[in-house]
Amino acid sequence: MKITIFGSGYVGAITGIGLAKLGHKVEIVDIDKSKISQWNNGTPPIYEIGLLEYLNEYKTSGSISFTTRSSQESKFYFIAVGTPTIEGGNSANLDFVYSALDNIIKVSSKDSIIITKSTVPVGTNKKMQEYVNEVSAGKNLKIVSNPEFLREGNAFSDFFNPDRIVLGSDSLETSKEVSKLYKTLELSSNLTKPIQYLFTDFQSAELIKHASNGFLAIKLSYINDLARYCSLVGADVSDLSKGMGFDPRIGDRFLLPGPGWGGSCFPKDSKELLFSANKVDTDLPVLCAAIESNKAHKVWCGQQISKIAIEKSILKIGILGIAFKAGTDDSRESSAYDLIDILSVNKFELSLHDPKAFDFSNTDLKITNSFNDLMDILDTVEGIVINTEWTEYYNLDWGKILNKDNIKFVIDLRNITPRLEHQNLYRIGYNI
Ligand code: UGA
Repeated sequence: MKITIFGSGYVGAITGIGLAKLGHKVEIVDIDKSKISQWNNGTPPIYEIGLLEYLNEYKTSGSISFTTRSSQESKFYFIAVGTPTIEGGNSANLDFVYSALDNIIKVSSKDSIIITKSTVPVGTNKKMQEYVNEVSAGKNLKIVSNPEFLREGNAFSDFFNPDRIVLGSDSLETSKEVSKLYKTLELSSNLTKPIQYLFTDFQSAELIKHASNGFLAIKLSYINDLARYCSLVGADVSDLSKGMGFDPRIGDRFLLPGPGWGGSCFPKDSKELLFSANKVDTDLPVLCAAIESNKAHKVWCGQQISKIAIEKSILKIGILGIAFKAGTDDSRESSAYDLIDILSVNKFELSLHDPKAFDFSNTDLKITNSFNDLMDILDTVEGIVINTEWTEYYNLDWGKILNKDNIKFVIDLRNITPRLEHQNLYRIGYNI
């Protein structure tokens, strides 16, 4: 099948490459010329595990192309553009979605299907369907909401082994047509379980996406709340998570405490869910509390570091990990920036390291990326904070690092260090 995808970011590119692997001919369109030339030069603007290998394979075979102008006549058009929160607001900016839609209306032929992958507020796809009915009545264009559930850092394995494929529209027949795009997934050896297809109306599909992210955010805020409590009563949150996770009704995933959840999805989607509920005079108090808890937890982490550093008369602190989680170069809404803000106000000298992340924020501090940079930081700082759970940090010899003369503390906000009983090791939910 011929498929055109608008948006070459984390969602559009992974979906496009995945669909090419499933045997489709995919064209990826982005208005950003420099991004498109990066894709075409083989130096993608994003990092994702497996991306380069898949990209080279499918570009060489001609089944995927990147362009600033759509030229392929496709039956299926995916919208996978960004929906950032409106500056200073609580809801998503849909300008890019509508601009992609206008483009599709122009280039598409009769009976094409437009599939929304971008995460949009409830009610958007219905309005998009009304819009295309109004402005291009003769073309019989159909909209289908097909939310994405990919996690950055695991995006390809999530694409090839999905937990579910949700398709929402006002026509079951059209949704079923879209489901056929994924049919060859079932032949793949990567699949560990049968694919669950769920056909719904527009609004339910949109809400499944927001509510899933909201639920996971609640789960994480709960374990982070408990982490702060554990250290006060002499419990270890790592054992608590494990013990709770054995209960299949709870499950062990998304139960690891950390420095506070971030990324381009949980913060934005939980705010959006709350905002859209408020618009119809409903509040979601549990979600609301989870958001507040996360804000407070990030501040608490910064304050704990400051307290320990002041007690030990320390000035130079190294922050390991700027990405909002391991496996990605993305640092949007990363807890690292909350830590940097709090520690900068308290006048600490900071050194930042991350194997992949570059800077999305306004901080003037440089993020260093190489292993040598990491070694320099370990030799020169007096205190270390682990913010991101990169394997590179996990694999360090923490026993040796803790015994270095210059190191007065290691504060592990991800609990990736071995459980050593060392007076300078602080693990979240254990002794901080
Ligand atoms: C999330 C969802 O997990 C995906 O299903 C969804 O498709 C995606 O948002 C999206 O809406 O596009 P992602 O933002 O890539 O994926 O990241 P997650 O793996 O969900 O992590 C979110 C945050 O929770 C990170 O800050 C991470 O460090 C934190 N986390 C996660 C923990 O602190 N502990 C855990 O046990 C798991």
